[in-house]
Amino acid sequence: MLLVGAGSAAAQRMAASSDILGAHLISGRGCTACHTPHSGSQGNGSSKPSASTGNSSMLWGQDATGLYGKTITTGGGKFVEVLPTSMSATTPDVQGMLTCLTCHDGNYASASMMKNRVYETLPATYGSNKNIPTLLGSDGSGAGNYLNDHPVGLSAKVGCGGPSSWDCTIGSGGAIQMSGTHSSQFVKNYGYFVAPGTYSNSPVVVCTTCHEPHSMNSVVVSGTNSGLPAGTYATMFFLRAPYNPNDSNPLSNQAAQFCRQCHADKSNEMNGSSAGTVF
Ligand code: HEC
Ligand code: HEC
Ligand code: HEC
Ligand code: HEC
Repeated sequence: MLLVGAGSAAAQRMAASSDILGAHLISGRGCTACHTPHSGSQGNGSSKPSASTGNSSMLWGQDATGLYGKTITTGGGKFVEVLPTSMSATTPDVQGMLTCLTCHDGNYASASMMKNRVYETLPATYGSNKNIPTLLGSDGSGAGNYLNDHPVGLSAKVGCGGPSSWDCTIGSGGAIQMSGTHSSQFVKNYGYFVAPGTYSNSPVVVCTTCHEPHSMNSVVVSGTNSGLPAGTYATMFFLRAPYNPNDSNPLSNQAAQFCRQCHADKSNEMNGSSAGTVF
């Protein structure tokens, strides 16, 4: 059994043959579509030059002014997020959310060059709808509706302990340590790849918690955050962890394992099953 599991995990390791930036090559513009070496978003041809537009730690080159101070309510209405009022604010929703929404909003920020449909070829498991929208505030359900989006923002806190969370601990700065009996077993079986932001010493969910905008199709597993055999694993949608809904094995649970990194009550480890990750 062990050999079979290890063998199929090895098969999942792959050398990406296409560019890892994928959809974020932005039709050939490359890195400067998001970062400008000089003059912030003005350097990127922004139509709304302003001194405060691009002054951020990662040389942000897209115009975020339309999003400043706007409210987006996610998770069916329970998670209210007031977006930062400048790119130089120090909260994690600047690097982790404002950046993404400068292109992926389509409501407060212009849709610009966005096609509003996924770039990757979707596997057959997705059925007939192959044109999933990519503008969160303009997804066809009514302008400015974010209620159908996963909770994000400074009020979307990840907890430890209790019936639905992992037996993890939150360090003084807000970092999660997956060191309990069940949580450490989960890290051995799959890993802990997500990157929550920290706000007031609490871990919070932002876009970059789940997504890494620099790699669409592959993830390096090194052994520090995962017990899986080291190597490069397939992913989709810029997700930070192995996530391949195109896995040829219909018993694969890797995409479900992704969500269990936080939703511990839905895990094998917390429900008496010894199942690991099946590729
Ligand atoms: C689609 C937008 C996008 C593109 C294209 C992009 N980046 Fe980024 N980059 C971001 C965002 C958002 C952040 C901040 C969030 C983070 O740290 O992951 C960032 C952060 C960075 C940082 C600082 C943090 C770190 O990870 O070191 C560097 C350096 C960087 N990018 C370099 C690059 C280079 C080089 C390229 C091209 C190969 C590139 N980026 C392409 C969006 C992008
Ligand atoms: C410069 C504009 C730009 C920025 C900034 C940007 N994206 Fe994108 N992103 C795109 C484009 C263009 C596509 C292709 C789909 C489209 O045109 O609608 C895309 C596609 C995606 C996809 C779908 C890829 C697929 O599998 O088809 C995801 C997921 C995504 N982006 C996440 C993010 C996240 C998270 C951030 C912030 C960290 C971000 N993007 C920032 C332009 C951007
Ligand atoms: C809790 C994790 C999580 C967070 C937080 C998150 N996403 Fe995603 N996102 C996903 C997953 C998982 C998928 C792939 C869904 C699938 O398999 O169809 C996805 C898909 C996408 C896509 C592709 C289109 C689609 O709807 O499937 C875009 C674009 C995207 N995310 C942007 C964002 C942006 C922008 C944010 C922040 C406002 C964000 N995501 C926050 C997990 C997350
Ligand atoms: C980084 C941690 C994290 C990951 C990964 C994650 N979630 Fe969540 N999720 C949360 C938090 C935090 C909340 C809000 C508090 C709560 O309900 O526990 C939440 C809430 C939810 C809710 C309830 C929303 C509501 O209306 O109350 C659903 C459903 C959900 N997540 C589904 C998913 C799915 C599906 C995935 C995988 C694609 C996923 N989550 C991945 C952290 C995460």
